[in-house]
Amino acid sequence: MIHKPVLLQEVIKYLNPQKNENFIDATFGLGGHSFEILKYIKPEGKILALEWDPFLVEIIKPQIMAQKNIILKNENFKRIKKIAKEENFTNVKGVIFDLGISNWHYQKSNRGFSFKKNEYLDMRINPYEIKLTAFDIINYFSKEELTDIFLKYGEEKKSKLIAEEIVKRRKNKKIETSSELAEITAEVKGKRKSKIHPATQVFMALRNFINQELENLEIGLEEAYEILIRGGRIAVISFNGLEDKVIKKVFKKLKNKRGLIITKNVVRPKLEEIQNNPSARSAKLRVIEKNDK
Ligand SMILES: C[S@@+](CC[C@H](N)C(=O)[O-])C[C@H]1O[C@@H](n2cnc3c(N)ncnc32)[C@H](O)[C@@H]1O
Repeated sequence: MIHKPVLLQEVIKYLNPQKNENFIDATFGLGGHSFEILKYIKPEGKILALEWDPFLVEIIKPQIMAQKNIILKNENFKRIKKIAKEENFTNVKGVIFDLGISNWHYQKSNRGFSFKKNEYLDMRINPYEIKLTAFDIINYFSKEELTDIFLKYGEEKKSKLIAEEIVKRRKNKKIETSSELAEITAEVKGKRKSKIHPATQVFMALRNFINQELENLEIGLEEAYEILIRGGRIAVISFNGLEDKVIKKVFKKLKNKRGLIITKNVVRPKLEEIQNNPSARSAKLRVIEKNDK
């Protein structure tokens, strides 16, 4: 399996899908969470599945075509309310957001998402909607702009030094690939003190900035809450502190709309899951319930 769904049983426990209920999977990926939810909501329950990556949608479409219970749309979850309306998708009992990108993106997309690969620096989740690539940013943005992106979108402490080195190197030759960028970052940061690869934050910052992931998340969560039925829930799995900050901010706001935070303490994967799937190690699940109508 290319992508193992994270915190799967925990998501099922909190969303509690039952026969003939409707759910939205805001980040379909390869459908790991949807296919599990589907087992509980058959025969009449439906899943509205959103996936922003047009290439991934092409790959999974044939599998979905045989499923009358899944409606797959190549869409951004920041438009979740409009899409649900257009599809006449009502009685939404729950929404799952499993943030970021999937292992398929790191392993197969060939778009430079991984610092372990030597690929062209693209990093756009939807290349039809987004024009700016990581290559453009790394080779044409000013030192100050780079510093700002690495800091704001990746919380990289050595942002300024990395930006300075990038600007120096690109004078001789354009920085074209993920491995070139990873090498430069690793050189600036020096010997590793932790298990985390030194380029993690820079790559996260670029991906975040290019795809406007935090902005989309804020809009998507607020809109998802609006379309839930009373007693419906949103489950969000995040993978970094910046995402988690946005979730906490939106949940706080939703508390004023009688949102009930179900996960008083954030839910983390069990040790066994992390051992079977190291990508789960930084995952955090938060759940809110709607009680306002
Ligand atoms: C972590 S993966 C989801 C994996 C999925 N739950 C599974 O088990 O296969 C996140 C997915 O969300 C997609 N995505 C990222 N931002 C999105 C957005 N704003 N709207 C819709 N999909 C998005 C990514 O392309 C990726 O496929």
